[in-house]
Amino acid sequence: MSVSPANVTTVDHPVAAALLTRLRDKDTAVEEFRQRLDALTFLLVSEALTDATSVPETVETPLGPAEGSRLEPMPAIVPVLRAGLGMLDAALRLLPAAPVGFVGMRRIETSDGVGHECYLESLPGVLEDRPVLVLDPMLATGGSAAAVIRVLGESGVGPVTMVCTLAAPEGIAALQSSAADVRIVTAAVDSHLDERAFIVPGLGDAGDRLYGSA
Ligand code: PRP
Repeated sequence: MSVSPANVTTVDHPVAAALLTRLRDKDTAVEEFRQRLDALTFLLVSEALTDATSVPETVETPLGPAEGSRLEPMPAIVPVLRAGLGMLDAALRLLPAAPVGFVGMRRIETSDGVGHECYLESLPGVLEDRPVLVLDPMLATGGSAAAVIRVLGESGVGPVTMVCTLAAPEGIAALQSSAADVRIVTAAVDSHLDERAFIVPGLGDAGDRLYGSA
């Protein structure tokens, strides 16, 4: 793991690197893409929860009391549709009791370049002061993430962590100027964005690769 001064954690793990390589490969078919994204998300969310707060809890084993702990407050999970849905199952395996909200966000072409449109907002009413993990495979321009964070802000959420497979330097910079306290956990920071605002080398369009409309 490496942490830059700017709240970005890059998960530096050989299994994560191998999984990301399969995602990048244009010849990886949809079923493998889904499986590898699921496995990589498990590693990323595990890292994102490193600083999760917990409280002591004592349980009775068959042999007597054992001191343990439980997460409190339980973080919420917010996948960003569509592509973030491919990360939800893995996050729920780690946090099966987590509240889940959904934000649908799509990039649209505008005369100025890339714009963002929020087409779905379905958030549980328990987000106030609660830590939130936002799941989205790609942080490109950062516009979608910034819009999601604005939506979450209206619910008074606690600390927000963006969990991404890939981030572009442009998106990290944009997010840090609009939401400096947001933590970013990613498997890699890539080179740059191309003229269509796609991450290079990236992995293509994550939503299309997940849901077969490429
Ligand atoms: C992609 C991706 C992110 C967003 C990243 O979604 O999954 O949500 O673009 O780009 P940005 O940082 O420039 O906002 P897309 O809009 O293609 O929708 P999809 O998930 O439905 O494919």
